[in-house]
Amino acid sequence: MKDKSTEMENTTSVAEDKTVTPKELVIEAREKEFAAVKELGSAFLTMAKERWSVRKFKPEQISDTHMSRILEAGRHAPSAHNNQSQRVLILQSDEAIAKVRSVTRWAFNAPTVLLVCTDLTESWKNVDGHDSGEIDAAIALDHMMLEAWECGVGSTWVRGFDEHIMHKAFDLPSEWKVVAIMPMGYPLEKAHPANFHFTRKEASELYRFL
Ligand SMILES: Cc1cc2nc3c(=O)[nH]c(=O)nc-3n(C[C@H](O)[C@H](O)[C@H](O)COP(=O)(O)O)c2cc1C
Repeated sequence: MKDKSTEMENTTSVAEDKTVTPKELVIEAREKEFAAVKELGSAFLTMAKERWSVRKFKPEQISDTHMSRILEAGRHAPSAHNNQSQRVLILQSDEAIAKVRSVTRWAFNAPTVLLVCTDLTESWKNVDGHDSGEIDAAIALDHMMLEAWECGVGSTWVRGFDEHIMHKAFDLPSEWKVVAIMPMGYPLEKAHPANFHFTRKEASELYRFL
């Protein structure tokens, strides 16, 4: 396979090279299209680029309307075999918030924390034995994170905790696997993106058209 990363950076069109195949021309056209879309964007792309992980929150609780929108987004996420194995606890009571903060410091000062699990008795198992449970939960959580941003609600995906301690703390059913938590709330004015947010790999490192 030719290394397309060098082609993406090269200013000379492969069309000028008589040795290129029609397939390579298609790839070049795709790469040009990609570059154009990167510039032009879309409503979704703009939102995806603007979102950042919020780690400092106002004390006020998320409104019922916003919470409903967020949860509804998670309900419409794709899942393997449509099994919808995601199970989400919405931690808001003083007791639940104190408990999650005792398990991990990455709950921050968020007024709401989603505890996202998969029910392994429900998740799809492929013929090769692969279990899609964590993926179901992850996609649902991603949908919720993006809808939260649309509502002006900030959040951070967090896996900085001991899964077994979290499981025990909330006395979860044995067939549930904890996938992540998501602290969320309205961002404090002084909250700002961490440096990581601005570090994105080049498309040439991430993608290969074949
Ligand atoms: C699987 C996963 C685990 C993460 N765990 C943590 C965490 O434990 N603590 C934290 O502060 N951020 C955590 N993050 C957030 C990432 O650090 C963050 O998304 C990344 O640095 C990009 O920054 P941005 O979301 O602001 O664009 C996690 C993100 C993912 C996807």
